[in-house]
Amino acid sequence: MRAFAPLLRDGGRLVIVASTLGTLHYLAPVLHDRFDGLTSLDEVDAQVAAWRDAVKDGSARAGAWPGFVNIPSKIAQVAAVRALAGQRRAEDARRGILLASVCPGMINTPTSALWWDVSGAATPAQAAVPLLDLALGPVDPAHYGQLVRYGMVLPWRPF
Ligand SMILES: NC(=O)c1ccc[n+]([C@@H]2O[C@H](COP(=O)([O-])OP(=O)(O)OC[C@H]3O[C@@H](n4cnc5c(N)ncnc54)[C@H](OP(=O)(O)O)[C@@H]3O)[C@@H](O)[C@H]2O)c1
Repeated sequence: MRAFAPLLRDGGRLVIVASTLGTLHYLAPVLHDRFDGLTSLDEVDAQVAAWRDAVKDGSARAGAWPGFVNIPSKIAQVAAVRALAGQRRAEDARRGILLASVCPGMINTPTSALWWDVSGAATPAQAAVPLLDLALGPVDPAHYGQLVRYGMVLPWRPF
């Protein structure tokens, strides 16, 4: 994001592939403040580093951190988009730029098959369609800075 965001042309799109797991709904409330309201990528990095250190020293297991690595990592991705969007919103609106995170939904891929039964899930080609809509279709200003799934904004907070 640090490398690509400055390169965006007028009308450009920066779409981060995250997950529905990247919302605070999946994080213990005691940890919400770590990712809510962050205003810079450095702040997001600091929280991810703190989580990494807690995993390394074993304190994450004893505390409120979820065991599934995907949850804090996806929350950090979405928080990073929210932080960068907070910095760029006015200028991006003027230039017609979209910055958003996206959940592709459940997809039948080798990685997801390690965790879930995805035999009935979308193929990668099917899952790509709403992502390509975000990348190539008309910009919906309501998507700016948000996590989008199948064209709909997912709430960041559980309430
Ligand atoms: N699958 C799902 O149900 C699901 C649901 C929600 C969100 N997502 C998200 O969608 C994304 C893709 O998931 P997936 O299931 O398709 O994963 P995947 O099958 O493991 O594919 C990951 C892809 O990323 C590439 N990649 C990995 N590390 C890379 C690196 N350092 N530089 C460049 N490319 C790299 C891999 O390339 P190689 O093939 O060369 O290794 C591979 O093509 C992930 O962000 C995942 O969290 C997936």
